Amino acid sequence: MKAHLAKLPLILKPVILSLFLSLSVLAFLSRQTPRHSSGKTDTAEEEQLPSDLKIRPGYASYDAYLQRQMNKTLNPKLREIWTTRDWDRKLKVFSEFFDNLKQRGLISNGSKALSIGARVGQEVAAMKRVGVNDSVGIDLVPYPPLVLKGDFHHQPFDDETFDFEFSNVFDHALYPWKFVGEIERTMKRGGICVLHVLLSRRADKYSANDLYSVKPLEKLFKKSELIEVRSIDGFGLDTEVVFKKKE
Ligand SMILES: *[C@@H]1O[C@H](CO)[C@@H](O)[C@H](O)[C@H]1NC(C)=O
Ligand SMILES: *[C@@H]1O[C@H](CO)[C@@H](O)[C@H](O)[C@H]1NC(C)=O
Ligand SMILES: *[C@@H]1O[C@H](CO)[C@@H](O)[C@H](O)[C@H]1NC(C)=O
Repeated sequence: MKAHLAKLPLILKPVILSLFLSLSVLAFLSRQTPRHSSGKTDTAEEEQLPSDLKIRPGYASYDAYLQRQMNKTLNPKLREIWTTRDWDRKLKVFSEFFDNLKQRGLISNGSKALSIGARVGQEVAAMKRVGVNDSVGIDLVPYPPLVLKGDFHHQPFDDETFDFEFSNVFDHALYPWKFVGEIERTMKRGGICVLHVLLSRRADKYSANDLYSVKPLEKLFKKSELIEVRSIDGFGLDTEVVFKKKE
């Protein structure tokens, strides 16, 4: 490099040098992910994600992400539908799901159960209907008494609180490793987590990630083992994945 530079006309040296410098700066900047305001750890975690889980770009900050997520939950038209004509249909289908889980020995009347991203609480109502009385939901917007206020990236519960956790909103997680990390933190040893996810198509415009296989979940659930995967027809979601936290 030095030898070549020495042969160049003197005037070109600063040009080449500044070109080299700007390219370095550009390379550095392109490695930064501007949508994450919460720092290096998230960027590093995201870089290690398996290729069949993609975080959607486009959030300027975590607040902007929360605002957008709440926007869907607070949409008055959707809320009206969820609490009226949607209610009975969802209650029926979710009751069937939870009854099925009971028959497979994955939940019981005595389970302390959590539904994550519960909206207006249809899943919680369904758990109670099948006899899982000690159940509650969390969402960014509360809907008492069934749903408490809570962010699934920072669950408002102590370690090892639940026997069972359910969610069908994995695609809404901006930080899937935190979503799963919080489940594993608040779940008792031997506890069961059931996720309903979408693998065959892309989900809605409120989704924050796209999942293409079960493999990334196996990687994210560090303290649990995958015990079942089956196809379902669950309100646009196609796959039921069951993890058991190690004893
Ligand atoms: C929230 O929804 C309204 C319409 O319902 C829209 O005008 C607004 O831009 C949305 N805000 C965000 C942050 O998505
Ligand atoms: C669980 O609760 C349901 C609904 O209350 C009840 O029908 C069922 O008998 C209970 N099962 C057991 C094993 O107690
Ligand atoms: C659960 O709640 C139902 C309805 O309120 C009640 O009939 C049942 O006895 C309760 N089960 C337990 C184990 O508390």
